[in-house]
Amino acid sequence: MVRRAVPAALTRLPGRFTSRLHDERVAAWLGMALGVSVLSAFATGLVSHFMQHPPGWAQWPSRPVNLYRVTQGVHVIGGLATVPLLLAKLWTVYPRLWQWPPVRSAAHAVRRLLVFVLVGGALFQFVTGVLNIGYWYAFPFLFTTAHYWTAYIVAGALLIHAADEWSKVRRTVMTRPQDAVGRRAFLLTVAGAGGVITAVTVGEAFSPLARLAVLAPRRPGTGPQGLPVNKSAAAAGVSAAARDPGWRLTVTGRVRRDLTLTLDGLRALPQHPARLPIACVEGWSAGADWRGVRLRDLLALAGAGDTARVRVESLQTSGLYRTSHLDPGHWHDPLTLLALDLNGGPLDLDHGYPCRLIAPNRPGVLQTKWVHRLVVL
Ligand code: HEM
Repeated sequence: MVRRAVPAALTRLPGRFTSRLHDERVAAWLGMALGVSVLSAFATGLVSHFMQHPPGWAQWPSRPVNLYRVTQGVHVIGGLATVPLLLAKLWTVYPRLWQWPPVRSAAHAVRRLLVFVLVGGALFQFVTGVLNIGYWYAFPFLFTTAHYWTAYIVAGALLIHAADEWSKVRRTVMTRPQDAVGRRAFLLTVAGAGGVITAVTVGEAFSPLARLAVLAPRRPGTGPQGLPVNKSAAAAGVSAAARDPGWRLTVTGRVRRDLTLTLDGLRALPQHPARLPIACVEGWSAGADWRGVRLRDLLALAGAGDTARVRVESLQTSGLYRTSHLDPGHWHDPLTLLALDLNGGPLDLDHGYPCRLIAPNRPGVLQTKWVHRLVVL
């Protein structure tokens, strides 16, 4: 049976919605692909949120070393590749938004409201997400809070919408079409557009393809000491304090003895190498060779308890990320360092000179730079 291309009510609008791709079969295939990609973005987004704001009962593991790098790469690069899917889906179904009468019953009004919430929420997530990874903070609200709460609204609305449309999905996806209206070519074009976006961004996390990453705001291999920088010392307002010869590292809080160390004192402690990535919340990541003092050695020297948490404090006097916390699993990990060297030389000022935290499986915003104090809690 040949299905009508557009809802009957729309045929009253001459000359409009003539494409036969405004079709429930195309909407269903695009919907399924959107369902998979939006729900993976939701899951990986939750990982990133709870990594940064862990509930009291949970601890994020320090291994595998590259786990956060992968989950956040999937979130951002997968999210970008979803943009053509979303646009194609909205183009396919937009004639339905003109249906007449606009509301036929209370149940119909609720369904339409839900679709409005889904479309508005999805567009909000994608537009603000793209602006955010482009470092264009054009909005008057805190991106992370808005992005986090809107994600629940979109995921909830998506699940209800998918359940509501499931009979159409089954009817269309389980049967062979009798007509040929170029659906396959259209869907392949949309998939191709997603593939191209992936190809020109994935190099921001996968260094062999770094040269292709023309859309990426940061690329592995570029920046001081061959590593990208998000926040420079000048932007953080710490240049003078970080270069001050009077700089000391203190270890204090619930310890048997407070420690105060100069940079030479830190260098006199056993130094260890670690190959670890900076994995940014904005999706880019790059591996680097670090060298420095194991945090667990320093905390043992101060006599910290095995189950303590540690607050790492930067010289920054303001900013959301001037401190970060380490759970026992993370600071006991032999790869967790207070790094003094990067890629064979002393840390560049923009990478956190005189010393910075570097730990496995952790977002870049929590790899505190310009460290001057460790407080054992
Ligand atoms: C971000 C995700 C999504 C957005 C923004 C979206 C948007 C829309 C919109 C605006 C409509 C028209 C609704 C109306 O009748 O007024 C629609 C229809 C539809 N959607 Fe989705 N949708 C999404 C995800 C999904 C998913 C996950 C599925 C199924 C697994 C799906 C399957 C369908 C189907 C079968 C239709 C009916 C098309 C027709 O009757 O011609 N959609 N969608």
